[in-house]
Amino acid sequence: MKRYLMLLGTRPEAIKLCPLILELRRRTDVQLRVVLTGQHRDMPAPVLTFFGVCPDADLGVMTQGQTLQSLSERLLTAISRDMQISGFAPDAILVHGDTTTAFIGALCAFYAGIPVVHIEAGLRTGDISAPFPEEFNRRAIDAMSRIHFAPTAQAKTRLMAEGHKETRVFVVGNTATDALRLCLERPCEHPLLDMVGERRLILLTAHRRETAPEQRLALFRAIREELEGRRDTVAIFPVHPSPVIREAAEATFVGCDNVKLTDPLDVPIMQHLLARTTLLLTDSGGLQEEATYLGVPTLVLREMTERPEGVAAGVLRLVGTDGRGVRAALSELLENEQARRHMARPSDAYGDGYVSVRIAAILAALAEASEL
Ligand code: UD1
Ligand code: UDP
Repeated sequence: MKRYLMLLGTRPEAIKLCPLILELRRRTDVQLRVVLTGQHRDMPAPVLTFFGVCPDADLGVMTQGQTLQSLSERLLTAISRDMQISGFAPDAILVHGDTTTAFIGALCAFYAGIPVVHIEAGLRTGDISAPFPEEFNRRAIDAMSRIHFAPTAQAKTRLMAEGHKETRVFVVGNTATDALRLCLERPCEHPLLDMVGERRLILLTAHRRETAPEQRLALFRAIREELEGRRDTVAIFPVHPSPVIREAAEATFVGCDNVKLTDPLDVPIMQHLLARTTLLLTDSGGLQEEATYLGVPTLVLREMTERPEGVAAGVLRLVGTDGRGVRAALSELLENEQARRHMARPSDAYGDGYVSVRIAAILAALAEASEL
Protein backbone atom coordinates (compact mmCIF):
# COMPACT_ATOMS: atom_id res chain seq x y z
CA MET A 1 0.00 0.00 0.00
CA LYS A 2 1.46 3.36 -1.06
CA ARG A 3 0.41 6.62 0.54
CA TYR A 4 0.26 9.72 -1.64
CA LEU A 5 -0.52 13.28 -0.59
CA MET A 6 -1.98 15.39 -3.39
CA LEU A 7 -2.10 19.17 -3.07
CA LEU A 8 -4.30 21.43 -5.16
CA GLY A 9 -5.37 25.01 -4.81
CA THR A 10 -6.66 26.60 -8.00
CA ARG A 11 -9.32 26.02 -10.66
CA PRO A 12 -6.99 24.50 -13.29
CA GLU A 13 -5.41 22.15 -10.74
CA ALA A 14 -8.87 20.96 -9.71
CA ILE A 15 -9.92 20.38 -13.33
CA LYS A 16 -6.74 18.56 -14.32
CA LEU A 17 -6.34 16.54 -11.11
CA CYS A 18 -9.92 15.32 -10.58
CA PRO A 19 -9.63 12.61 -13.27
CA LEU A 20 -6.42 11.38 -11.61
CA ILE A 21 -8.00 11.46 -8.14
CA LEU A 22 -10.87 9.31 -9.46
CA GLU A 23 -8.36 6.91 -11.01
CA LEU A 24 -6.17 6.64 -7.89
CA ARG A 25 -9.19 6.21 -5.63
CA ARG A 26 -10.26 3.23 -7.75
CA ARG A 27 -7.03 1.44 -6.89
CA THR A 28 -6.76 -0.81 -3.85
CA ASP A 29 -2.96 -0.42 -3.61
CA VAL A 30 -3.06 3.37 -3.03
CA GLN A 31 -4.10 5.48 -0.09
CA LEU A 32 -4.65 9.03 -1.29
CA ARG A 33 -5.02 12.15 0.84
CA VAL A 34 -6.29 15.15 -1.12
CA VAL A 35 -5.62 18.53 0.44
CA LEU A 36 -7.18 21.67 -0.96
CA THR A 37 -5.00 24.61 -0.03
CA GLY A 38 -7.77 27.12 -0.75
CA GLN A 39 -5.48 29.35 -2.84
CA HIS A 40 -8.73 29.83 -4.79
CA ARG A 41 -11.62 30.02 -2.35
CA ASP A 42 -14.57 29.72 -4.75
CA MET A 43 -13.57 28.27 -8.12
CA PRO A 44 -12.43 24.71 -7.29
CA ALA A 45 -15.60 23.75 -5.35
CA PRO A 46 -17.96 23.35 -8.34
CA VAL A 47 -15.27 21.39 -10.18
CA LEU A 48 -14.92 18.97 -7.27
CA THR A 49 -18.69 18.65 -7.03
CA PHE A 50 -19.01 17.93 -10.75
CA PHE A 51 -16.44 15.14 -10.55
CA GLY A 52 -17.75 13.86 -7.21
CA VAL A 53 -14.45 14.45 -5.40
CA CYS A 54 -14.44 15.22 -1.68
CA PRO A 55 -11.11 16.58 -0.39
CA ASP A 56 -9.77 15.39 2.97
CA ALA A 57 -8.90 18.92 4.14
CA ASP A 58 -9.27 22.55 3.09
CA LEU A 59 -6.56 24.90 4.35
CA GLY A 60 -8.51 28.01 3.31
CA VAL A 61 -5.52 30.30 2.66
CA MET A 62 -7.03 32.77 0.13
CA THR A 63 -7.40 36.49 0.82
CA GLN A 64 -8.88 39.01 -1.64
CA GLY A 65 -6.26 40.48 -3.97
CA GLN A 66 -3.52 38.36 -2.38
CA THR A 67 0.10 39.14 -3.21
CA LEU A 68 2.48 36.35 -4.14
CA GLN A 69 4.43 36.99 -0.96
CA SER A 70 1.46 36.83 1.40
CA LEU A 71 0.01 33.81 -0.41
CA SER A 72 3.34 31.96 -0.26
CA GLU A 73 3.76 32.75 3.42
CA ARG A 74 0.31 31.39 4.30
CA LEU A 75 0.77 28.32 2.10
CA LEU A 76 4.14 27.47 3.66
CA THR A 77 2.69 27.68 7.17
CA ALA A 78 -0.57 25.86 6.37
CA ILE A 79 0.92 23.01 4.32
CA SER A 80 3.74 22.28 6.77
CA ARG A 81 1.27 22.36 9.66
CA ASP A 82 -1.09 19.99 7.85
CA MET A 83 1.81 17.62 7.15
CA GLN A 84 2.71 17.66 10.85
CA ILE A 85 -0.76 17.26 12.39
CA SER A 86 -2.45 14.94 9.88
CA GLY A 87 -0.17 12.02 10.77
CA PHE A 88 -0.50 10.84 7.16
CA ALA A 89 3.25 10.22 6.46
CA PRO A 90 3.11 10.11 2.63
CA ASP A 91 5.52 8.08 0.47
CA ALA A 92 5.33 10.89 -2.10
CA ILE A 93 3.68 14.24 -2.70
CA LEU A 94 1.87 14.86 -5.98
CA VAL A 95 1.68 18.41 -7.34
CA HIS A 96 0.47 19.76 -10.66
CA GLY A 97 1.72 22.46 -12.98
CA ASP A 98 3.08 25.83 -11.91
CA THR A 99 0.90 27.49 -9.30
CA THR A 100 2.06 28.87 -5.98
CA THR A 101 0.29 25.93 -4.32
CA ALA A 102 2.35 23.48 -6.38
CA PHE A 103 5.61 25.36 -5.80
CA ILE A 104 5.22 25.76 -2.03
CA GLY A 105 3.82 22.22 -1.73
CA ALA A 106 6.89 20.83 -3.51
CA LEU A 107 9.14 22.99 -1.32
CA CYS A 108 7.54 21.64 1.89
CA ALA A 109 7.97 18.07 0.63
CA PHE A 110 11.56 18.70 -0.48
CA TYR A 111 12.50 20.16 2.92
CA ALA A 112 10.85 17.17 4.63
CA GLY A 113 12.74 14.68 2.43
CA ILE A 114 9.55 13.37 0.78
CA PRO A 115 9.78 12.55 -2.96
CA VAL A 116 7.94 14.99 -5.21
CA VAL A 117 5.97 13.76 -8.23
CA HIS A 118 5.37 16.56 -10.74
CA ILE A 119 2.43 16.26 -13.10
CA GLU A 120 2.57 18.50 -16.20
CA ALA A 121 6.36 18.76 -15.94
CA GLY A 122 8.78 20.30 -18.42
CA LEU A 123 6.72 23.20 -19.78
CA ARG A 124 8.93 26.20 -20.57
CA THR A 125 8.71 29.53 -22.36
CA GLY A 126 12.43 30.12 -21.76
CA ASP A 127 11.69 33.55 -20.22
CA ILE A 128 11.64 33.58 -16.43
CA SER A 129 9.32 36.62 -16.44
CA ALA A 130 6.54 35.16 -18.60
CA PRO A 131 4.25 33.80 -17.52
CA PHE A 132 4.99 35.34 -14.13
CA PRO A 133 5.57 33.73 -11.68
CA GLU A 134 4.61 30.39 -13.29
CA GLU A 135 7.75 29.96 -15.40
CA PHE A 136 9.87 30.20 -12.25
CA ASN A 137 7.52 27.91 -10.32
CA ARG A 138 7.62 25.14 -12.90
CA ARG A 139 11.41 25.24 -13.18
CA ALA A 140 11.77 25.18 -9.40
CA ILE A 141 9.27 22.33 -9.01
CA ASP A 142 11.06 20.29 -11.66
CA ALA A 143 14.37 20.89 -9.87
CA MET A 144 12.85 19.47 -6.66
CA SER A 145 10.99 16.52 -8.24
CA ARG A 146 12.00 12.88 -8.37
CA ILE A 147 9.39 11.81 -10.93
CA HIS A 148 8.23 13.91 -13.88
CA PHE A 149 5.05 13.29 -15.85
CA ALA A 150 5.63 15.25 -19.05
CA PRO A 151 2.64 15.98 -21.27
CA THR A 152 4.59 15.89 -24.54
CA ALA A 153 7.83 14.65 -26.06
CA GLN A 154 9.09 18.25 -26.27
CA ALA A 155 8.60 18.64 -22.52
CA LYS A 156 10.60 15.47 -21.94
CA THR A 157 13.41 16.74 -24.18
CA ARG A 158 13.60 19.96 -22.16
CA LEU A 159 13.73 18.06 -18.87
CA MET A 160 16.53 15.86 -20.12
CA ALA A 161 18.43 18.89 -21.41
CA GLU A 162 18.23 20.21 -17.83
CA GLY A 163 19.87 17.03 -16.55
CA HIS A 164 16.92 14.95 -15.37
CA LYS A 165 17.29 11.18 -15.69
CA GLU A 166 15.44 9.66 -18.61
CA THR A 167 14.19 6.79 -16.42
CA ARG A 168 12.33 9.29 -14.25
CA VAL A 169 10.58 11.23 -17.03
CA PHE A 170 7.39 9.78 -18.50
CA VAL A 171 5.53 11.20 -21.49
CA VAL A 172 1.86 10.63 -20.74
CA GLY A 173 -0.17 13.51 -22.25
CA ASN A 174 -2.09 16.11 -20.29
CA THR A 175 -4.94 15.18 -17.93
CA ALA A 176 -6.76 18.28 -19.26
CA THR A 177 -7.88 16.02 -22.10
CA ASP A 178 -9.32 13.51 -19.60
CA ALA A 179 -11.36 16.23 -17.88
CA LEU A 180 -12.58 17.54 -21.22
CA ARG A 181 -13.61 14.08 -22.40
CA LEU A 182 -15.45 13.40 -19.12
CA CYS A 183 -17.28 16.77 -19.32
CA LEU A 184 -18.29 16.43 -22.95
CA GLU A 185 -19.53 12.86 -22.46
CA ARG A 186 -22.35 14.28 -20.34
CA PRO A 187 -25.03 16.31 -22.12
CA CYS A 188 -25.34 19.97 -21.10
CA GLU A 189 -28.19 22.43 -21.33
CA HIS A 190 -27.60 26.03 -20.33
CA PRO A 191 -29.20 29.43 -21.05
CA LEU A 192 -25.88 30.69 -22.45
CA LEU A 193 -25.98 28.04 -25.20
CA ASP A 194 -29.53 29.19 -26.05
CA MET A 195 -28.44 32.83 -25.94
CA VAL A 196 -25.73 32.22 -28.56
CA GLY A 197 -28.24 30.62 -30.93
CA GLU A 198 -26.99 30.59 -34.51
CA ARG A 199 -24.51 33.45 -34.02
CA ARG A 200 -20.75 33.11 -34.20
CA LEU A 201 -19.35 32.68 -30.69
CA ILE A 202 -16.18 34.37 -29.50
CA LEU A 203 -15.01 33.04 -26.15
CA LEU A 204 -12.65 35.35 -24.25
CA THR A 205 -10.59 34.80 -21.09
CA ALA A 206 -7.68 36.85 -19.74
CA HIS A 207 -6.13 36.78 -16.29
CA ARG A 208 -2.31 36.77 -16.46
CA ARG A 209 -0.46 38.70 -13.77
CA GLU A 210 2.33 39.85 -16.10
CA THR A 211 -0.05 41.90 -18.27
CA ALA A 212 0.27 45.51 -17.10
CA PRO A 213 -3.03 47.26 -16.20
CA GLU A 214 -2.80 49.85 -19.05
CA GLN A 215 -1.93 47.13 -21.52
CA ARG A 216 -4.92 45.06 -20.38
CA LEU A 217 -7.26 48.04 -20.77
CA ALA A 218 -5.95 48.82 -24.25
CA LEU A 219 -6.31 45.15 -25.21
CA PHE A 220 -9.91 44.95 -23.96
CA ARG A 221 -10.77 48.25 -25.72
CA ALA A 222 -9.40 46.98 -29.02
CA ILE A 223 -11.44 43.78 -28.73
CA ARG A 224 -14.57 45.79 -27.95
CA GLU A 225 -14.01 48.09 -30.94
CA GLU A 226 -13.65 45.11 -33.26
CA LEU A 227 -16.72 43.25 -31.99
CA GLU A 228 -19.14 46.10 -31.38
CA GLY A 229 -21.84 46.31 -34.01
CA ARG A 230 -21.23 42.83 -35.46
CA ARG A 231 -24.78 41.52 -35.21
CA ASP A 232 -23.94 37.98 -36.31
CA THR A 233 -21.35 37.59 -33.55
CA VAL A 234 -21.61 37.31 -29.79
CA ALA A 235 -18.76 37.18 -27.29
CA ILE A 236 -18.83 35.57 -23.84
CA PHE A 237 -16.18 36.66 -21.34
CA PRO A 238 -16.22 34.69 -18.07
CA VAL A 239 -14.31 37.10 -15.89
CA HIS A 240 -11.71 35.87 -13.41
CA PRO A 241 -12.65 37.03 -9.87
CA SER A 242 -9.31 38.81 -9.30
CA PRO A 243 -10.29 42.45 -8.55
CA VAL A 244 -7.88 43.94 -11.13
CA ILE A 245 -9.29 41.79 -13.94
CA ARG A 246 -12.89 42.31 -12.93
CA GLU A 247 -12.56 46.11 -12.78
CA ALA A 248 -10.86 46.33 -16.19
CA ALA A 249 -13.44 44.05 -17.84
CA GLU A 250 -16.42 45.88 -16.36
CA ALA A 251 -15.00 49.32 -17.19
CA THR A 252 -14.34 48.37 -20.82
CA PHE A 253 -17.31 46.29 -21.88
CA VAL A 254 -20.14 48.15 -20.11
CA GLY A 255 -22.85 48.97 -22.67
CA CYS A 256 -21.41 46.69 -25.38
CA ASP A 257 -24.49 44.65 -26.34
CA ASN A 258 -22.83 41.68 -27.98
CA VAL A 259 -20.16 41.09 -25.31
CA LYS A 260 -21.56 39.25 -22.30
CA LEU A 261 -19.51 39.31 -19.11
CA THR A 262 -20.23 36.48 -16.70
CA ASP A 263 -18.90 35.13 -13.43
CA PRO A 264 -16.51 32.20 -13.84
CA LEU A 265 -18.44 29.40 -15.51
CA ASP A 266 -18.75 25.91 -14.11
CA VAL A 267 -16.47 23.56 -15.97
CA PRO A 268 -19.11 21.52 -17.88
CA ILE A 269 -20.80 24.58 -19.41
CA MET A 270 -17.41 26.19 -20.10
CA GLN A 271 -16.26 23.13 -22.00
CA HIS A 272 -19.53 22.72 -23.90
CA LEU A 273 -19.32 26.40 -24.90
CA LEU A 274 -15.72 25.87 -25.97
CA ALA A 275 -16.77 22.95 -28.17
CA ARG A 276 -19.31 25.34 -29.82
CA THR A 277 -16.84 28.27 -30.12
CA THR A 278 -16.03 29.92 -33.45
CA LEU A 279 -12.93 31.67 -32.17
CA LEU A 280 -11.21 31.61 -28.76
CA LEU A 281 -9.18 34.55 -27.42
CA THR A 282 -7.26 33.56 -24.30
CA ASP A 283 -4.12 33.84 -22.21
CA SER A 284 -5.02 30.68 -20.28
CA GLY A 285 -2.72 27.67 -20.27
CA GLY A 286 -5.39 24.98 -19.93
CA LEU A 287 -7.61 26.50 -22.59
CA GLN A 288 -4.77 26.30 -25.11
CA GLU A 289 -4.62 22.55 -24.52
CA GLU A 290 -8.38 22.10 -24.68
CA ALA A 291 -8.67 24.19 -27.85
CA THR A 292 -5.93 22.11 -29.48
CA TYR A 293 -7.73 18.88 -28.56
CA LEU A 294 -11.03 20.16 -29.97
CA GLY A 295 -9.57 22.09 -32.92
CA VAL A 296 -11.01 25.47 -31.84
CA PRO A 297 -9.17 28.29 -33.67
CA THR A 298 -7.42 30.33 -30.99
CA LEU A 299 -5.66 33.66 -30.69
CA VAL A 300 -3.26 33.33 -27.75
CA LEU A 301 -3.07 36.67 -25.91
CA ARG A 302 0.56 36.28 -24.87
CA GLU A 303 3.99 37.23 -26.15
CA MET A 304 5.18 33.62 -25.84
CA THR A 305 3.72 30.24 -25.03
CA GLU A 306 4.87 27.09 -23.27
CA ARG A 307 2.40 25.19 -25.47
CA PRO A 308 4.23 25.24 -28.85
CA GLU A 309 2.64 21.93 -29.85
CA GLY A 310 -0.72 23.65 -30.36
CA VAL A 311 0.93 26.33 -32.49
CA ALA A 312 2.65 23.63 -34.57
CA ALA A 313 -0.70 21.83 -34.96
CA GLY A 314 -2.01 25.06 -36.53
CA VAL A 315 -4.81 25.59 -33.98
CA LEU A 316 -3.14 28.27 -31.83
CA ARG A 317 -1.83 31.58 -33.15
CA LEU A 318 0.34 33.67 -30.86
CA VAL A 319 -0.78 37.32 -31.15
CA GLY A 320 0.67 39.04 -28.07
CA THR A 321 -1.13 41.59 -25.91
CA ASP A 322 -0.81 44.74 -27.99
CA GLY A 323 -4.34 45.94 -28.77
CA ARG A 324 -3.66 46.85 -32.39
CA GLY A 325 -2.05 43.51 -33.24
CA VAL A 326 -4.80 41.51 -31.54
CA ARG A 327 -7.48 43.56 -33.28
CA ALA A 328 -5.89 42.96 -36.68
CA ALA A 329 -5.75 39.18 -36.09
CA LEU A 330 -9.33 39.11 -34.78
CA SER A 331 -10.57 41.12 -37.73
CA GLU A 332 -8.79 38.85 -40.19
CA LEU A 333 -10.33 35.69 -38.81
CA LEU A 334 -13.80 37.21 -38.58
CA GLU A 335 -13.60 38.37 -42.21
CA ASN A 336 -11.78 35.40 -43.71
CA GLU A 337 -13.72 32.22 -42.96
CA GLN A 338 -11.28 30.12 -44.97
CA ALA A 339 -8.35 31.25 -42.82
CA ARG A 340 -10.33 30.52 -39.66
CA ARG A 341 -11.39 27.07 -40.89
CA HIS A 342 -7.81 26.29 -41.76
CA MET A 343 -7.03 26.51 -38.01
CA ALA A 344 -9.92 24.25 -36.99
CA ARG A 345 -7.89 21.04 -36.82
CA PRO A 346 -8.35 18.83 -33.76
CA SER A 347 -5.07 17.39 -32.54
CA ASP A 348 -4.02 14.83 -29.94
CA ALA A 349 -0.79 16.77 -29.22
CA TYR A 350 -1.87 17.05 -25.56
CA GLY A 351 -3.27 13.57 -25.12
CA ASP A 352 -6.15 11.29 -25.87
CA GLY A 353 -8.40 11.71 -22.83
CA TYR A 354 -6.97 8.68 -21.00
CA VAL A 355 -3.86 10.19 -19.41
CA SER A 356 -4.74 9.56 -15.75
CA VAL A 357 -4.92 5.79 -16.31
CA ARG A 358 -1.35 5.89 -17.61
CA ILE A 359 -0.10 7.98 -14.68
CA ALA A 360 -1.73 5.64 -12.14
CA ALA A 361 -0.22 2.58 -13.85
CA ILE A 362 3.27 4.15 -13.93
CA LEU A 363 3.01 5.10 -10.24
CA ALA A 364 2.10 1.49 -9.44
CA ALA A 365 5.09 0.20 -11.45
CA LEU A 366 7.42 2.67 -9.71
CA ALA A 367 6.11 1.58 -6.31
CA GLU A 368 6.62 -2.08 -7.27
CA ALA A 369 10.22 -1.27 -8.24
CA SER A 370 10.73 0.62 -4.93
CA GLU A 371 11.40 3.85 -6.83
CA LEU A 372 8.80 5.64 -4.71
C1 UD1 B 1 -3.52 31.51 -10.17
C2 UD1 B 1 -2.22 30.89 -10.69
C3 UD1 B 1 -2.21 30.88 -12.22
C4 UD1 B 1 -3.45 30.23 -12.78
C5 UD1 B 1 -4.68 30.87 -12.16
C6 UD1 B 1 -5.90 30.12 -12.62
C7 UD1 B 1 -0.30 31.33 -9.27
C8 UD1 B 1 0.89 32.16 -9.05
N1 UD1 B 1 -1.09 31.69 -10.28
O1 UD1 B 1 -3.51 32.86 -10.55
O2 UD1 B 1 -1.07 30.15 -12.67
O3 UD1 B 1 -3.46 30.43 -14.17
O4 UD1 B 1 -4.61 30.79 -10.73
O5 UD1 B 1 -7.07 30.82 -12.46
O6 UD1 B 1 -0.52 30.37 -8.57
N2 UD1 B 1 -10.21 34.92 -6.39
C9 UD1 B 1 -11.45 34.81 -5.79
N3 UD1 B 1 -12.02 33.57 -5.73
C10 UD1 B 1 -11.43 32.46 -6.25
C11 UD1 B 1 -10.19 32.61 -6.87
C12 UD1 B 1 -9.58 33.85 -6.92
O7 UD1 B 1 -12.02 35.78 -5.30
O8 UD1 B 1 -11.99 31.36 -6.20
C13 UD1 B 1 -9.57 36.27 -6.46
C14 UD1 B 1 -8.99 36.71 -5.09
O9 UD1 B 1 -9.13 38.08 -4.95
C15 UD1 B 1 -7.53 36.33 -5.24
C16 UD1 B 1 -7.30 36.68 -6.71
O10 UD1 B 1 -8.48 36.23 -7.38
O11 UD1 B 1 -6.69 37.03 -4.35
C17 UD1 B 1 -6.08 36.10 -7.35
O12 UD1 B 1 -5.94 34.70 -7.10
P1 UD1 B 1 -4.47 34.01 -7.20
O13 UD1 B 1 -4.60 32.55 -7.00
O14 UD1 B 1 -3.51 34.73 -6.32
O15 UD1 B 1 -4.00 34.34 -8.66
P2 UD1 B 1 -4.58 33.92 -10.04
O16 UD1 B 1 -4.43 35.09 -10.94
O17 UD1 B 1 -5.92 33.30 -9.88
N1 UDP C 1 -12.50 27.43 -17.11
C1 UDP C 1 -13.74 27.22 -16.50
N2 UDP C 1 -14.57 28.30 -16.33
C2 UDP C 1 -14.22 29.55 -16.72
C3 UDP C 1 -12.95 29.76 -17.33
C4 UDP C 1 -12.11 28.67 -17.48
O1 UDP C 1 -14.08 26.10 -16.13
O2 UDP C 1 -15.01 30.47 -16.52
C5 UDP C 1 -11.60 26.28 -17.28
C6 UDP C 1 -11.01 26.07 -18.65
O3 UDP C 1 -11.88 25.34 -19.49
C7 UDP C 1 -9.75 25.31 -18.31
C8 UDP C 1 -9.31 25.92 -17.00
O4 UDP C 1 -10.49 26.53 -16.45
O5 UDP C 1 -10.03 23.94 -18.06
C9 UDP C 1 -8.22 26.92 -17.20
O6 UDP C 1 -8.02 27.62 -16.03
P1 UDP C 1 -7.40 29.07 -15.99
O7 UDP C 1 -7.53 29.71 -17.32
O8 UDP C 1 -8.00 29.75 -14.81
O9 UDP C 1 -5.89 28.79 -15.61
P2 UDP C 1 -4.59 28.36 -16.45
O10 UDP C 1 -4.92 27.14 -17.23
O11 UDP C 1 -4.19 29.53 -17.28
O12 UDP C 1 -3.58 28.11 -15.39
